[in-house]
Amino acid sequence: MSTSAAGGLSGRVAIITGASAGIGRACALELARHGASVVVNARRKERLDDLVAQIASLGDGAGRGVVVAGDATDSGVIETILDVASSEFGREADLVLVNAGRGLAGSPLTSDEGEWERMYTLNVVGASRLIRAAGQRMRDDAERSNDYPKRARDILVLGSSVGKNISPFSSMYGGSKFAIGAIAEAVRRELAPKGIRVSLICPAIVRSEFQEAAGYDPEKFGALMESIAPVLEPDDIARLVCFMTSQPAHVEINDVMIRPTRQEYP
Ligand SMILES: NC(=O)c1ccc[n+]([C@@H]2O[C@H](COP(=O)([O-])OP(=O)(O)OC[C@H]3O[C@@H](n4cnc5c(N)ncnc54)[C@H](OP(=O)(O)O)[C@@H]3O)[C@@H](O)[C@H]2O)c1
Repeated sequence: MSTSAAGGLSGRVAIITGASAGIGRACALELARHGASVVVNARRKERLDDLVAQIASLGDGAGRGVVVAGDATDSGVIETILDVASSEFGREADLVLVNAGRGLAGSPLTSDEGEWERMYTLNVVGASRLIRAAGQRMRDDAERSNDYPKRARDILVLGSSVGKNISPFSSMYGGSKFAIGAIAEAVRRELAPKGIRVSLICPAIVRSEFQEAAGYDPEKFGALMESIAPVLEPDDIARLVCFMTSQPAHVEINDVMIRPTRQEYP
């Protein structure tokens, strides 16, 4: 699967959190296939090592991959990811995919309260820490280099269709995605004058490890997925990310909802 000839993103330095599975992994591969150098992060290091080995086998025109394993909510890990991007690839990251995240079944009344803090720490606080650190560095780099619109800079944030249409099925999770969607838009307004694109991607159902980690009932959710099959695959999001980041620097695709065609809602 590929959107166009390799090399369209060559020279770009990308960071992807949550790259050991699902959407993050597919995006890392597709960005590298298109020529971007990638720093991949998640907690499961062996998975990231395998991913980087796969990137190394992509062949001519593909970018290189580097692993920074660790918890993406930790400010120290976030600084290390950004430092490694610039030390390994010789320039500040100019494509940051704020992807690490998790779901949670249920509403404020029915979900497992013991998971609330962990989920909001990852989906909102950790994601905001990365947006802040990457945004500050990109802003300073853009001011120093004064290279807009020759060079594109992107921060892409994973929201969700339930971060636009609240669903009682997973509304504590949806609330976290409403929050990060609002924060992404706030930062877009702040960084737009510097020529930095901040974009929100709101997928509906994508088949990944997400459903199990969220604690969705496999039978009920499996039946729902079957009823609207085929649902999205991580590669579908990866093609979108490559399309968005391959646009000329003056074109910002601000806010995208992407659904399986047969999913009416949310
Ligand atoms: N799948 C969907 O239907 C769907 C729909 C809308 C939005 N989204 C959003 O898309 C993003 C990716 O989801 P996905 O479907 O790819 O889920 P996934 O298959 O469960 O992957 C989640 C990734 O996040 C990583 N992760 C979890 N906690 C982390 C932490 N504390 N630090 C660093 N990495 C961490 C996991 O790796 P480790 O366990 O190795 O750390 C894994 O690589 C999430 O933000 C999710 O909310 C998903």
